[in-house]
Amino acid sequence: MHESVAEATKRKYAEYVNPGLAKLLDFAGYGVETTAEGCYITDDSGKRYLDCLGGYGVFSPGHRHPKVVEAAKKALDTMPLSAKVFFSKPYADLAEKLAAIAPGDLQFTFMCNSGTEAVEGALKVAKMYDHRPRVVSTVGGFHGKSMGALSATGRDKFREPFYPLIPEFCHVRYNDIDAMRELVDDHTAAVIVETVQGEGGIHVPDAGYLPAVREICDAHDALLILDEVQTGFGRTGKMFGAEHTGVVPDIMTLAKGLSGGVVPVGAFMGSAKVWEPAFGENPLLHTSTFGGNPLACSVALAAIEVIEEEGLVENSATVGAHMMNRLREVADKRSNTIAEVRGVGLMIGVEFALDDVGELTIAAMVKRGVVAAYTLNNPRVIRFEPPLIMTREQADVAVDAFDEAVAETQELLTAVAGL
Ligand SMILES: Cc1ncc(COP(=O)(O)O)c(C=O)c1O
Repeated sequence: MHESVAEATKRKYAEYVNPGLAKLLDFAGYGVETTAEGCYITDDSGKRYLDCLGGYGVFSPGHRHPKVVEAAKKALDTMPLSAKVFFSKPYADLAEKLAAIAPGDLQFTFMCNSGTEAVEGALKVAKMYDHRPRVVSTVGGFHGKSMGALSATGRDKFREPFYPLIPEFCHVRYNDIDAMRELVDDHTAAVIVETVQGEGGIHVPDAGYLPAVREICDAHDALLILDEVQTGFGRTGKMFGAEHTGVVPDIMTLAKGLSGGVVPVGAFMGSAKVWEPAFGENPLLHTSTFGGNPLACSVALAAIEVIEEEGLVENSATVGAHMMNRLREVADKRSNTIAEVRGVGLMIGVEFALDDVGELTIAAMVKRGVVAAYTLNNPRVIRFEPPLIMTREQADVAVDAFDEAVAETQELLTAVAGL
């Protein structure tokens, strides 16, 4: 019997990749992705989807932005991977550009390949500063799933199977200044925190939170690591989430949007104060074979140029505000199902009042040609993190589909309850 591309791919996922994941994707109604452009993804059946997830916040300039693709092609035609022992112009150019746009005195950059790697490197640099043992992070915070990053990630479900993790990692409630003040002391190497908690369920802290965390760190000469893997590069309507309050970290982690949606790339940046103790004595204390390759650096530089030239930070702020207003109208109408709409820029979360509604709503949205997903640490919250090129009209299409999807889910649950 002839197997279609979709059938064969799903079977191979079940047989060779991850049977549980195969079921999960199938339940949500996803087919096999084949091409993507701008805000749209097309599957193997030719159906087009409006992308409201953006690869978990990766596709800031949209899918396959011509300028970013051109930079990749140019690097492929010259030198995509680094020989490592030469100086690399794309690395130097990107590091200079990042220093120019990053908050405060973040001057130095180490390039890697993902957000998790950026966090790993950031934690190591923090430990080298004063050789203190403790790292404080937040409940619900997400920093990755490798052993170091997972030690900082704040969800037991991902952590407990791997105990013991790195000792002296503590978690306090996000947006709770008193709890932070209680835990940070002269044994604390660093506090690592997101400027908006993403996977925890899109939590925007009070305006005074990050400045207070900065003060608490300063009082104990502990370092502040801002994890901007998800919030960086315009996602929140500012180039970096830190800009909403003017807080300057000692170390900042980056990835996702920096890739331009074309080549995986991560980075962590630090001030001279932290770089010298980490790399002064041994410049090879932390290394990566692939990190900072010319292909990734050329693409990242092009991605930043696109974000600047096309005003995508501003678009994120204005279309994000419009989308949030429209989603709040839906929430008012459906207040028995939707508990809250929150977020900033094009980083928006919708929290449902009940478990399971999110999953069913996502499936109903997929049926209507709109891609969404829930947040990793909080399945009650579905997130809207579309490409930053999204127009108001496209945002309206997404919200209308969401509205219909929630209505369908409500009807389904009422019918099931009545059985
Ligand atoms: C704030 C934050 N830090 C780190 C990570 C890990 O990044 P990656 O999945 O690229 O390793 C994520 C991923 O969602 C994230 O949101």
